[in-house]
Amino acid sequence: MKKKLVQQVTASFKEQFNAEPGYVFLSPGRINIIGEHVDYNDGFVLPAAINKYVCFAVSENEDGQNTFFAKDLNESYSFNLNDELKPVDKMWVNFFLGVLQQMKERGFAMKGLNIAFSSTVPMGAGLSSSAAVECGYAFALNKIFDLGLTKEEIALIGQKSEHTYVGVNCGIMDQFASVFGKKNKVIKLDCNTLEYEYHNADFKDYALLLLDSKVKHTHLTSGYNDRRNEVEQGLAILKQHYPEVKTFRDLNEAQVEAVKDELGDVIYRRCLFVVREIQRVLDAVAALENQDFAELGRLMYATHTGLSKNYEVSCEEIDFLVDSVRNDENVLGARMMGGGFGGCSINLVKKEAVNGLIERIAKEYKEKFNIKLEAYKVKIAKGTTLYTEQHAGI
Ligand code: GLA
Repeated sequence: MKKKLVQQVTASFKEQFNAEPGYVFLSPGRINIIGEHVDYNDGFVLPAAINKYVCFAVSENEDGQNTFFAKDLNESYSFNLNDELKPVDKMWVNFFLGVLQQMKERGFAMKGLNIAFSSTVPMGAGLSSSAAVECGYAFALNKIFDLGLTKEEIALIGQKSEHTYVGVNCGIMDQFASVFGKKNKVIKLDCNTLEYEYHNADFKDYALLLLDSKVKHTHLTSGYNDRRNEVEQGLAILKQHYPEVKTFRDLNEAQVEAVKDELGDVIYRRCLFVVREIQRVLDAVAALENQDFAELGRLMYATHTGLSKNYEVSCEEIDFLVDSVRNDENVLGARMMGGGFGGCSINLVKKEAVNGLIERIAKEYKEKFNIKLEAYKVKIAKGTTLYTEQHAGI
């Protein structure tokens, strides 16, 4: 699948630019086992890069012209490196412009690039296709122009670009996972310090299965930024009561409970979710290490309930997907994944039961919503990489 994507993008590059690409880069989407909506709340997350990629075929040119060809949309966009940058109407272009702006602000000397790209990361499905584009492009610029950026800086540039050119006030999880992904490992990331450690993603008899509700979202309009504002307000009130508290990490449930009336129902529930979710990630890492998959699954279900009822970022379709597996003995856990308001559920399913489960849920989902369910049996893969290093000649 990866090879086919590379071949298609290379062919597309040749057709557009009448030359062989100098480089091919792959930048993956991500899943998250647990730790949702806590990356921007100084919590922990447990994501991993997956074997779905945005692939870029790239060459330098001498005239300072940048041309991007989005193969999947059959659209091009060109501008000169010396043009003043600002966000444009086409969202996909902003992923690139935002990154370039960051590079310009750092004073890096660059030349123009011709780029053709295509993606097997579905858009708006909660698998971070935008982070994959941002980090892939930043990684490419770093490599080609020898900018000396670390992986962490690449992830931060991707995040900043999302804030400034896309308008989504996202956390660091998606970009970090896309860049730092490692085959068969999940990343426990401390979103406060950006310290991280890898844990084996070996679920023994169980496999991770994504069920795509096909309900698309953009976090520009989804309510994502509202959630950030709500928890910020909540934290400010909590800090007044507990001067020693710096972040949500320093709070426990009882402290949130004690300030319930002043927080008001909505903000109270948001804060309660955050404090519980931060703890759940720590418990989940312990469960993973102990190979206690039943406990891991229980925590995933608890996360879903919190996301749905207290943080209110799920939707009817995703709730249906999670509820449909709750009493299935072959499913240990399931929950909404990513920013929410649509996208995918992530399920921990007995390997031998995966196909049967997809069949059952697809039928029920079609009956209920008249939507064709998509299922992804994802593998945990390596982060953003220069493909040509290992596969010369393609
Ligand atoms: C989106 C954001 C991430 C994170 C998740 C929710 O994917 O980009 O930073 O907040 O939602 O966990």
